Amino acid sequence: MAEVQVEARARARLAQLTLEEKASLLDGRDFWHTKPVERLGVPALTVSDGPHGLRKQANLGDPIGLNASVQATCFPPAVALACSWDPQLARRVGEALGDECRAADVAVLLGPGINMKRSPLCGRNFEYFSEDPLLAGAMASGWVQGVQSRGVGTSLKHFAANNQEAERLRVSAEVDERTLREIYLAAFEQVVRAAQPWTVMCSYNRINGVYASEHHWLLTEVLRQEWGFEGLVVSDWGAVNRRDHGVAAGLDLEMPSSGGAGTQVILEALREGTLSEQQLDRAVLRVLELVDRAAAREPLEEFDQGAHHALAREAAAASIVLLKNDQRILPLDPAQGGAIAVIGEFARSPRFQGAGSSQVSPTRVENALHCLREALAGSRELLFAPGFELESEALDPQLAEQAVAAAAQAQVALVFLGLPPTYESEGYDREHMRLPDAQLQLLERVAAANPNVVVVLSNGSAVLVADWEHHARAVVEGWLLGQAGGAAICDVLLGAVSPSGRLAETIPQRFEHNPALGNFPGSDGVVRYGEGLLIGYRWYDTRALPVAHPFGHGLSYTSFEYSDLQVRVLDDGAEPRVEVSLRVTNSGQRSGAEVVQLYVSAPRVSVFGPEQELRGFARVQLDPGAAELVTLTLEQRAFAHWHVARAQWAVEGGEYELRVGASSRDIRLRAGVTLRGGQLAAPLGPDSTLAEFLADDAGREWLLEKFGGSALGDRVLESEMTRMLGSFPVRRLARFPGAAFGEAELDGFLAAR
Ligand code: BGC
Repeated sequence: MAEVQVEARARARLAQLTLEEKASLLDGRDFWHTKPVERLGVPALTVSDGPHGLRKQANLGDPIGLNASVQATCFPPAVALACSWDPQLARRVGEALGDECRAADVAVLLGPGINMKRSPLCGRNFEYFSEDPLLAGAMASGWVQGVQSRGVGTSLKHFAANNQEAERLRVSAEVDERTLREIYLAAFEQVVRAAQPWTVMCSYNRINGVYASEHHWLLTEVLRQEWGFEGLVVSDWGAVNRRDHGVAAGLDLEMPSSGGAGTQVILEALREGTLSEQQLDRAVLRVLELVDRAAAREPLEEFDQGAHHALAREAAAASIVLLKNDQRILPLDPAQGGAIAVIGEFARSPRFQGAGSSQVSPTRVENALHCLREALAGSRELLFAPGFELESEALDPQLAEQAVAAAAQAQVALVFLGLPPTYESEGYDREHMRLPDAQLQLLERVAAANPNVVVVLSNGSAVLVADWEHHARAVVEGWLLGQAGGAAICDVLLGAVSPSGRLAETIPQRFEHNPALGNFPGSDGVVRYGEGLLIGYRWYDTRALPVAHPFGHGLSYTSFEYSDLQVRVLDDGAEPRVEVSLRVTNSGQRSGAEVVQLYVSAPRVSVFGPEQELRGFARVQLDPGAAELVTLTLEQRAFAHWHVARAQWAVEGGEYELRVGASSRDIRLRAGVTLRGGQLAAPLGPDSTLAEFLADDAGREWLLEKFGGSALGDRVLESEMTRMLGSFPVRRLARFPGAAFGEAELDGFLAAR
């Protein structure tokens, strides 16, 4: 149905509803459905969790909605998919998810989760894309476009500043506006503008003291008035505090059902006049519009499980990050060579997704051990030793001995290590960033028996590697790869696929280096975002801290050369546009994909800012010897900061450095570009200083006219004195003896402007 028709139909229905019906439509029917209005033929909608697979609950009687779900393809969770740096791939995954929703009669898939990875300890980092808003926003936009192209809605979550699980239902995230705008809201803004998700899910927490579910500035002024969001805002499950305040702030639908409690509060507020019928209607219209949008969905008999599994495998292979590959130990030749020892329980019992509301019942699961066995059958001997039990902290001497014996007999040892399932989950944060001691002790013993060690990791968020990496020739970061992850790992280890994943989060050298340390998870109901803009690589690069593996890093089995960097200013001034182009050549022997990253380092004279920020990227697939011209266009936001006093994006004039590279620490080409920039001075106001008046044409003229010629004025306007007194508000000077103008005159001047 066209958007105009949707709106007209919703309005017509609204007119037929009683007040009670309207208020009740703003509450869910149960855990996973909206309310129907049978007499008007308004159906109930089914919403279901995801986001990396469909989690449609099989039994609706479950009071907390965490029971088994229907079988669905488990695609790589966001932690992995983000490392593909491939929004087109995210779109294809979205399309497949949309089809699974159609086949299960689900109208809205509750994702994607795009909160920033502020601390490596956040228990839900596996559900989030990145520590960088541009990358998260680009991946999520592709995903949303994919799902919605199938006539199924999405829910962009959790809006906003939900960056930890500790106290998530009531903690107040204390974040300054510039940091909010540039970091924590930026990905949401990007997705809303690019993809118009049908719904946005407000988070549980408070932001600067106000619950997200009651935050008028967030839900109405920023989301709708500034960004142009046209859909519906739904509460996270249980995020409603005062229902009437929520409706007034822009929270349309409460989920799950409050059993009528929310409806009563709304009706009471209407009676008392603290909520208007207009405010109510606005929210009801959005529910009705959502129902109509969803009605246009074409049903699907069944989805193609085989094709979706193949896509899950392709996506997983594109997401694997090769962190290290000394002496090119990888790929292994599947056709010849000595025995291969596969060590570690994760090879047999893969961890392929995280725990909590996103947990999917997969259609099938492939483990790396089985896939390797099949691929090597008849050519290379394979030995297996589990080495440890998944949840065990202490080394089991017998299991360790078996593993060491297998390693000693083999030409190479593939050691599968990772975080036990209980280490990370929705609902609580991680306690530390280490792998279990038992696994590290095992690794040390295996490496002593055989120097040809390849470690394969399974983890939902960065783990420390600096203390043990020297025991391995190669390290493969396998994150949580979804149901086909085992096959994808096999593809990369044996060279069927050249690794092309790039880190979407920094792996720090030490836990103590991480930006949120000391400010995470907060206490007494408050978490202060004291590191401000310096999240992830913005912190490590600005502080010039050593890292184990930088943001954007990932090796390949081939090599790439960067050349011919060209920069063209398309528009200058307050809203510059700059075109950057370069040539990338596959200079190695194999096909592979490179992720070209463009960082901008701003002059930052008037305000502080990070050393550099990712402002563009492109993934290019190249055959050996082939080259491609990559062109990236930078818009205003690539150069701007949020100007708090002007309440707008502002570009500072000066020289910007454009850095093109293969990670934030592997910059291959640089070019400077000088931009005129726009107005940076704050508008003159009652607190404006002498320096600000002198920098403003009208202010300067007025000041010289009033002040010049007077004894105090002439003295103050001497250049040395101006420097010293520059920070004095003019109002204060007005009160000095001999000032020659008074506060009233100053007010008159300001009022007339
Ligand atoms: C989670 C959401 C989820 C919802 C419904 C909440 O606890 O934070 O991400 O969509 O439950 O299961």
